Amino acid sequence: MSLSRRDLLTASALLLAGPGGALRAAGKEAARGETPLVLCWNENPYGPSPAARLAVSRAIAQGCRYPADAEIQELVEALAGHERIGADCIVTGTGSGELLCALGLLCGRDGGEIIAAAPTYAELPDYARLRGATLKFVPVDAGLRHDLPAMRAAVSERTRAIYICNPNNPTGTVVGASELRAFVAALPERLITIVDEAYMDFTVGADVASVADLVGTSHRVVVLRTFSKIHGMAGLRCGYAIARPDLAAALSATRMSTPNILAVRAARASLGDRAFLTDCRRRILASRTRITTELARLGLRYAEPQGNFVFFDTGMPLARFTGLMRARNILVGRLFPPYETWCRITIGTEPEVSAFLDALRAVKVS
Ligand SMILES: Cc1ncc(COP(=O)(O)O)c(C=O)c1O
Repeated sequence: MSLSRRDLLTASALLLAGPGGALRAAGKEAARGETPLVLCWNENPYGPSPAARLAVSRAIAQGCRYPADAEIQELVEALAGHERIGADCIVTGTGSGELLCALGLLCGRDGGEIIAAAPTYAELPDYARLRGATLKFVPVDAGLRHDLPAMRAAVSERTRAIYICNPNNPTGTVVGASELRAFVAALPERLITIVDEAYMDFTVGADVASVADLVGTSHRVVVLRTFSKIHGMAGLRCGYAIARPDLAAALSATRMSTPNILAVRAARASLGDRAFLTDCRRRILASRTRITTELARLGLRYAEPQGNFVFFDTGMPLARFTGLMRARNILVGRLFPPYETWCRITIGTEPEVSAFLDALRAVKVS
């Protein structure tokens, strides 16, 4: 059976529909072959937060209205307060993906060169290439981390931007904040460093931190954040960029749209729902440890995971592993060349993780 992206999203929506019961039952349903477990898009199945759900249900009656400028500005100011930066440094988008595309367009048009890791999140590189950019990919290092010295060495006179996805999707690894700061400081000031921190809320470690404060320095750094991950609002579509005012203005003029009224209200509400965000992080980190513990027990290698997903070596061609998982009604991540035997698995709810681990054990011994 082949499933379209629409099928997958529909199945995901079904899982999300009932706040408690449906999620708890999901693992068992997958085992019985009823509803596929969607563990391939790095979504956060616990969201949206209770506060965001309430805001959305109240906003539905306003669905005939455009979000008022004042209301969008309120969200921008709330984000600026959250980031401790001026409101003129914040640009909202219909997901951070839209802003990544806009940055790809800004930096890549007329053959501008953009450097990115391989593998990494492809939205910016793919979009930029279609708009005439030249992409230079630098393989991740042996630990599946961004190879910053090699990326620095790849800079040429034509380079306009460097994309750093931190933590990196699909490998899940991070580069430390001090290493990244030193890297940026050594770059020519004309370059734009685009740091995608979509998964930063799931990280642990002494030197692992956002570099959003670099936005206020003389270097041209743009940091991207999203409501799709820790906030569990992937379907509502809201993200933002943090950039110094001149870059923020250029980005704002290049984006295609602004968030819809449901997204604006849900984002405002979710920002304040600290209990939900803390709980999500705690549960996802606990499940991440469960997964890596089992991978180690099974003798399967994995990259150090710092997001809400784990990238691991299945020990067999990925197409075979994907087929075996699909036969057990579990949808896993796609192939990321050249890692032909590696799989990216999204961390679902606790029962979903149990169902995945049961399937993994069965596949490993078969
Ligand atoms: C690293 C990274 N950045 C950005 C995005 C896009 O997120 P959004 O839903 O905000 O467009 C994703 C989505 O999976 C991602 O993995």
